[in-house]
Amino acid sequence: MTHSCIHKIFVCIFIFHILSLLIIETDAKVPAVIVFGDSSVDAGNNNFIPTIARSNFQPYGRDFLGGKATGRFSNGRIPTDFISQAFGLKPTIPAYLDPNYNISDFAIGVTFASAGTGYDNATSDVLSVIPLWKELEYYKEYQEKLEAYQGKNKAKETISEALHMMSLGTNDFLENYYTLPNGRSSQYTIQQYEDFLIGIAGNFIKQIYSLGARKISLGGLPPMGCLPLERTTNFMSGSECLPEYNNVSLEFNDKLQKLTVKLNNELPGIKLVFSNPYFIFMDILRKPSNWGYEVASVACCATGLFEMGYACNRNNMFTCTDAAKYVFWDSFHPTEKTNHIIANYVVKHVLTQFLI
Ligand SMILES: *[C@@H]1O[C@H](CO)[C@@H](O)[C@H](O)[C@H]1NC(C)=O
Ligand SMILES: *[C@@H]1O[C@H](CO)[C@@H](O)[C@H](O)[C@H]1NC(C)=O
Ligand SMILES: *[C@@H]1O[C@H](CO)[C@@H](O)[C@H](O)[C@H]1NC(C)=O
Repeated sequence: MTHSCIHKIFVCIFIFHILSLLIIETDAKVPAVIVFGDSSVDAGNNNFIPTIARSNFQPYGRDFLGGKATGRFSNGRIPTDFISQAFGLKPTIPAYLDPNYNISDFAIGVTFASAGTGYDNATSDVLSVIPLWKELEYYKEYQEKLEAYQGKNKAKETISEALHMMSLGTNDFLENYYTLPNGRSSQYTIQQYEDFLIGIAGNFIKQIYSLGARKISLGGLPPMGCLPLERTTNFMSGSECLPEYNNVSLEFNDKLQKLTVKLNNELPGIKLVFSNPYFIFMDILRKPSNWGYEVASVACCATGLFEMGYACNRNNMFTCTDAAKYVFWDSFHPTEKTNHIIANYVVKHVLTQFLI
């Protein structure tokens, strides 16, 4: 063999080696999406616990694959499903408590979320749903199963590269603070309560960080005063959005944003981002026709004024025929179309940094 030939072979092997490194690296970018939160991201965990906060019956899931009512609080998919798909993973993220799935599915995507829960333990107590601390316990159990399935080192890598998403907080204000007269509102001013929740959010992030999570998206609140249920309570003022609740969303989101700055400085190697749905949601609500909607103030299901869960059922003759014309599916939850728009927005403006 001549010298130049040896040289060429060496270059070839070298290039091949670089290419294979690159391929392995792109592969490893986001191997899984792991979700914590409330009904905005619950794919049916509540079906397996005793609570009335359920949606595993028609017309929920009417536009889901096979028309199946999975326990997602929408007519179709929820934002995290679309986010998983945008990351090149599965088009839906299964619920951790669903016995039809096992660790080979959960290794790619899993949600521990529970409709009706919040940061505050007192919120999850209202409808006996899974408290956030218990979602964390399930996450620890999940890590053990992942280790048994992938081996210790690979499981560690999966956890550190996985996108962890948190989406909750609305219920702390609407189901708890503003609803229970002798509860948190007799203990805390609204600003104090916001700070109390921020403390819990910060602790939760520190705990998943200590368990190996590095890529984390902290979800902000939607304009809470514009949810049809809240507008209905405002019928004295023409069912407009409630400015007080929207202000709380803005104020709380500002505190969540500051929390992400603080924790990015404190925790080495963390990549914590704030995914804020408020302004895109508000744009849809202000100019629904720009987005192809016909109705933004009431929901599709039933009268659209107050029904959700068991009150939104197949026997209601008022339910709309085309949910894509509505911003909201039930009085508290967006339609699949809205979920898709918000997911796309968050992927494009915030989560892309995890894609490259
Ligand atoms: C998960 O379930 C699938 C299909 O039911 C099965 O083939 C597979 O062996 C299971 N995997 C584990 C790790 O239990
Ligand atoms: C919520 O409850 C859990 C379990 O009882 C407890 O460990 C945790 O400290 C509570 N959280 C707060 C903020 O009180
Ligand atoms: C909401 O915030 C705006 C701007 O900060 C303020 O002018 C308004 O009074 C607030 N409204 C309520 C109901 O809190």
